[in-house]
Amino acid sequence: MAPDGSRLYVAHVQSRTQAGSLAFAVAPAISTVDLASGETLQEPAPPDFFEEAAAADFPATVLVTSTDDRCNFNGRGTGMDAPSSVVLDAFGEWLFVADHNSNAVAVLSATRRNDDRFESPERGIYGVVRVGARPTGIALAGDNRRAWVHNALDYSVSQVELKSMGLTVTRESTFAASELPADVENGRRIFYSAVDPRVTRPELGGLSCSSCHPDGRTDGLQWQLNRGSSSLPEGEGLNTPALWNLDRTAPYAWSGSLADLPAFTTHMVGQMGGDGLDRWELEDVTAYLKTLRPPASQRPVVAVEASEGEQLFAAQCSSCHAGTQLTDGLTHLSGSALIDTPSLAGVAGTGPWLHDGSARTLRDAIRHPGAPRLSAAEGAAVQAWLLNR
Ligand code: HEC
Ligand code: HEC
Repeated sequence: MAPDGSRLYVAHVQSRTQAGSLAFAVAPAISTVDLASGETLQEPAPPDFFEEAAAADFPATVLVTSTDDRCNFNGRGTGMDAPSSVVLDAFGEWLFVADHNSNAVAVLSATRRNDDRFESPERGIYGVVRVGARPTGIALAGDNRRAWVHNALDYSVSQVELKSMGLTVTRESTFAASELPADVENGRRIFYSAVDPRVTRPELGGLSCSSCHPDGRTDGLQWQLNRGSSSLPEGEGLNTPALWNLDRTAPYAWSGSLADLPAFTTHMVGQMGGDGLDRWELEDVTAYLKTLRPPASQRPVVAVEASEGEQLFAAQCSSCHAGTQLTDGLTHLSGSALIDTPSLAGVAGTGPWLHDGSARTLRDAIRHPGAPRLSAAEGAAVQAWLLNR
């Protein structure tokens, strides 16, 4: 927040789902919110807001740096991809931004001022430096020149310093070691990287698995992805699923056409423009994916309703939503397409629902094509029970 409380700065990504490919589909952004009016201020677009990004219709809040050589680590990856946190100095002049998919920290002018001494004058970026793996939090020192960033995957802190000759990392301290098995640890690093040419094309904007599955959840968006040999109609976006309990919910994809996780990851990496992962790297990603679980359910339920819901569910729904994960692993006709029965683990937190994202509420999702009709009271009881799955 600005020192005078007038503005709020928000680090986030902006996604563009209507593209024919995933090039420049996700862009890093800092939005400035005017707290008096509640409006998002659109900073002026940089003069040479480059072609692809302009064609992509990204609003001017987007911090595009991917084709900018000086912020591009000499072609070894984009400067910024998915900002995770931002702090403003006490003078309201500089924004320090940590980016958790490109392992970088950038300092940019809060007013997007141009200056020839900047690394990227057009975008108001003073400089970008590499820090440790997956920086998620950033804090500023009292001198307004130094920031500390927490590199979550390295269990370390980097000290970044704004100096007159540029932005540099002046200290790095590691305070713990990962206790994860080596394969899970490596898979996790691959999952969070938008600059790893094995999984993406950094020079085309770059994106990571976590760009669409933040922390293994869903981004709530419907993407134009390759649907392979499935019966899913072309042109319809595919809803991003949460990646929970995957060790127990094969096969994969809404069409159920991919038998195992290495096959799915290969299918996805191809679309992301990556060079590809070898057999061992695919196993590492699989090992990581298998650790993802839904958050513990937080909603207390009215016991009577929920137990009535449980009985109704067993009678009406469990022929398809069977077993502990509430899926039979088979496809059924939904409208005109064959869809793999989704697991309902953690279903309260995975909306919007259904393969095309067409159910905006859980109540609508329960009434999907192919499900038996329930009365309003029965629907409410089943929903109360499902909220705790
Ligand atoms: C552009 C957004 C996007 C990106 C990037 C992305 N996914 Fe997905 N993911 C989706 C969508 C949409 C689906 C549904 C696809 C389908 O049904 O064909 C999906 C489905 C999945 C599934 C199947 C889940 C199930 O229960 O059937 C897995 C596993 C998965 N993604 C893992 C990954 C991994 C690993 C990466 C990185 C290599 C990745 N995803 C990158 C959007 C994305
Ligand atoms: C004939 C098999 C079948 C029966 C019976 C069935 N479902 Fe489903 N369910 C599916 C399939 C297939 C989908 C995916 C449909 C789609 O995406 O178009 C689905 C999707 C859902 C979803 C959305 C999940 C998500 O992640 O998007 C919910 C919630 C759901 N079902 C609840 C129920 C309830 C409650 C009942 C009983 C009243 C029920 N289902 C009965 C097969 C079935």
